[in-house]
Amino acid sequence: EKGTYPYYMLKEIDEQPAVMRKLLLKYQDENNNLTVDQAIVDAMLESDRVYIIAAGTSYNGGLVGKELIEKMTHIPTEVHVSSEFGYNTPILSEKPFFIFLSQSGETADSRQVLVKTNALGHPSLTVTNVAGSTLSRESNFTLLLNAGPEIAVASTKAYTAQIAVLAILSEVIGIEKGLINKGTMLHDIGIAANAIQAIIDDKEKIESLASDYLSTSRNAFYIGRGMDYHVALEAALKLKEISYIQTEGFAAGELKHGTIALIEEDTPVIALVTEKRVAGHTRGNLQETKARGAHAMVISMEGLDRPEDQIVIPHVNPLLSALVSVIPTQLLAYYCSLHRGNDVDKPRNLAKSVTVE
Ligand code: F6R
Repeated sequence: EKGTYPYYMLKEIDEQPAVMRKLLLKYQDENNNLTVDQAIVDAMLESDRVYIIAAGTSYNGGLVGKELIEKMTHIPTEVHVSSEFGYNTPILSEKPFFIFLSQSGETADSRQVLVKTNALGHPSLTVTNVAGSTLSRESNFTLLLNAGPEIAVASTKAYTAQIAVLAILSEVIGIEKGLINKGTMLHDIGIAANAIQAIIDDKEKIESLASDYLSTSRNAFYIGRGMDYHVALEAALKLKEISYIQTEGFAAGELKHGTIALIEEDTPVIALVTEKRVAGHTRGNLQETKARGAHAMVISMEGLDRPEDQIVIPHVNPLLSALVSVIPTQLLAYYCSLHRGNDVDKPRNLAKSVTVE
C-alpha cells in the first residue's frame, strides 16, 4: 500500500536506502562477507564473455553493470537491447554467459532471446525482482533484487537494486579471481545508501529546481561522460516517460556533432559530473550549450563540485556513483510530472510489464 504517499513512485524512491541495506543482508554470509551462489560464480568464471540482455531502464542498468563487471572481474561484457538482439546478433564468443536483467522477469523481448540462448545451450542468469517469474524459471540461475513490489510504471528502485546486485556479484568474482584483495562493496554500498538518504531528505530543493527548470519546457537534455553518460540515458528516459517532455540523454562530447543545433534560449540542459577524469570536459560541453542560451544545471559529486552547482551529491566510490546520481533525476522527473498534473504512476501509453514483442 502507498499509505500516506500521493504516488507509489515517491514511495519507491524513498525505499531505496532500505532496499540497499536489505540487499547487503541478503547477500552476506555468516562471516559478514558478501556472497552469491557458488554455482553462479563458477559458471561466470568459466565464461570468456558476458552478454547482458535487457530493455528500457533495465538496459540502462545493464550499461552500468558492464562497467562493474569489466572493472572488477576483467571479463569482457556487452550490453544488448533485447528487441534488437535477434537482428543485430553479435558474433558470440566461445563460452558466452548471458545475464538477463528484468525487474518483472516477464518482458517478452528479453524472453525471446532467452529461448534462443537456451536452444543453443548457453548458461544464463536472470537478475529480477520477481521470484518464479518466467525469465527466472527458464534460465539456469537467478539473483533476486529483493526490492519489494514495484508498482509505479516508472522504474526506480529496481534500477538501483540491479546496480547493487551486479556490484556484489562482480566483487565476489573479482575476489575469487584474485583481482581484488579485500572487498569494499559491503561498506561502499552502505555509504551509498546513506548518500541516497541525504538526497531524499533534501527533496524540497529538487522540487523547486523542477519548477525553475522544467515547468514550461517542451524538451530537455541530460549530458555526461562515462558512467555519467549511462545515468544521463536513464535520467532522460525517466523524465520523458512521466512528464512527456521530449528528453534526450547524450554523451557530452557528442552533442557538438549535430544535436547542439536543438539548443535554444532556455532549453534545460542538465550535466552529470561525478567522475574526475571527465569533469572538466563535461563542464566545457555544458558551457557550449550555455553560450547558445541553454538553462544549465549541474549535478556534481562532492570533491568535484563548484559553488554554482545546483545539486551536489555526497562522495561515494566512483564505481557506485550511478546509485546516487540517479536519485536527483528520479525526483526531478517525479516533481515535474506531478506539477504538470499527470498521473505519475500510470503514464499514458505504458504498461508495467511489456509482454508483447
Ligand atoms: C521505465 C520502465 C521500462 C522497463 C522495461 C523493462 O521506467 O519501467 O523501461 O524498464 O519495460 O522491464 P523489465 O525490467 O521488467 O524487464
